[in-house]
Amino acid sequence: MPFQPSNRSRVEPFIAMEVLAAAVERERQGHRVVRMEVGQPGAPAPKPVVAAAQAAIASGRLGYTEAMGIRPLREAIAGHYAGAYGLDVSPDRIAVTAGSSGAFSLAFLAAFDVGQRVAMPTPGYPAYRNLLGALGIEAVEIETGADTRWALTPDMIRRAHAQKPLHGILIASPANPTGTMYSPEALKALVEVADELGLWFISDEIYHGLVFAGEQRSALEFSPRAIVVNSFSKYYCMTGWRIGWMVLPEMLVRPVDRLAQNLYLSNNEISQRAAVAAFDPASAVELDATRAVYAANRAVLIDRLPRIGFDELLPVDGAFYVYASVKRFSNDSLEFARRMLVEAGVAATPGPDFDAARGHGFIRFSFAGTETDIVEAADRLQAWLK
Ligand SMILES: Cc1ncc(COP(=O)(O)O)c(C=O)c1O
Repeated sequence: MPFQPSNRSRVEPFIAMEVLAAAVERERQGHRVVRMEVGQPGAPAPKPVVAAAQAAIASGRLGYTEAMGIRPLREAIAGHYAGAYGLDVSPDRIAVTAGSSGAFSLAFLAAFDVGQRVAMPTPGYPAYRNLLGALGIEAVEIETGADTRWALTPDMIRRAHAQKPLHGILIASPANPTGTMYSPEALKALVEVADELGLWFISDEIYHGLVFAGEQRSALEFSPRAIVVNSFSKYYCMTGWRIGWMVLPEMLVRPVDRLAQNLYLSNNEISQRAAVAAFDPASAVELDATRAVYAANRAVLIDRLPRIGFDELLPVDGAFYVYASVKRFSNDSLEFARRMLVEAGVAATPGPDFDAARGHGFIRFSFAGTETDIVEAADRLQAWLK
């Protein structure tokens, strides 16, 4: 049949975005909604970032940049690895991307061929499997639970690889939706098994900087072959600027450069020039103040949600999510989230986005908003479910 969408475009929708649309519609009808469905900072970008963007616009000279990103930004990112992790990373190994989302498409294309297989944990961030699927790469989802603190283990990888060869492993730490982080030992063991078996290790470190419990370590500390993805969207409060980065093993630098040249030529120059200022000490002061708000929000939810009846919370080590069980109230979190939006005025994302098999019993609350919002949400839920 002519005129049909491709099979590869048949990816699942992102339910969080559908909840967002429903929440916006409720607001449009004049209802108050506490917005906890999407993972984006409520705070604006730091002032030095905004000033750098204004200066870039005022210069009027905005053009294509190098496909891998402007040198000052790649150098600033390399400096961040020295400062935050004590790592000596060459700016040549850094690719500036359109958010971490842009980095994933480049990394997947550079590292994997059609039909190859990439292991990842569930619950997990849905775009990984959907994007891999669209590129003809198989997402091998491995269920994790409380017994491993929601982490993949070397044993799980060895077992899956023995059943049918894998070509890569993809994890996020801290993770979305769980907020849970790998211990340094668990991360090291997983990176080492990837090296031993010859599997690419992709580490999504987008929630670094937002860690409340445990120790934040980069996969790069354990192997120069790790592909590390990060973004200005979360800690740096620059979600809409669509800017992120990737640290690549030497072997993938030219392949990613060539793919980027052909896929989109270059990233947005305003965002690149602005992002350099995200590493200013003055930006860090603002960003750390925002992180303190998240820490307070986290404390409110960890205290109040279990008392309201959301009795199984996963460990909220970092990021700005609480993934909580709704089983006491419902075995259908989609329906529960719909009612919660209309009856309690609280928007959150149902679990099936992140875990097709078990997500019906869970819901994800984002606490990236203001403390007043979070307290109001807890009050509303308490009144609704009493
Ligand atoms: C784990 C994880 N990775 C990647 C992304 C994509 O973020 P961006 O493309 O804005 O960098 C998100 C967004 O929520 C996320 O939660």
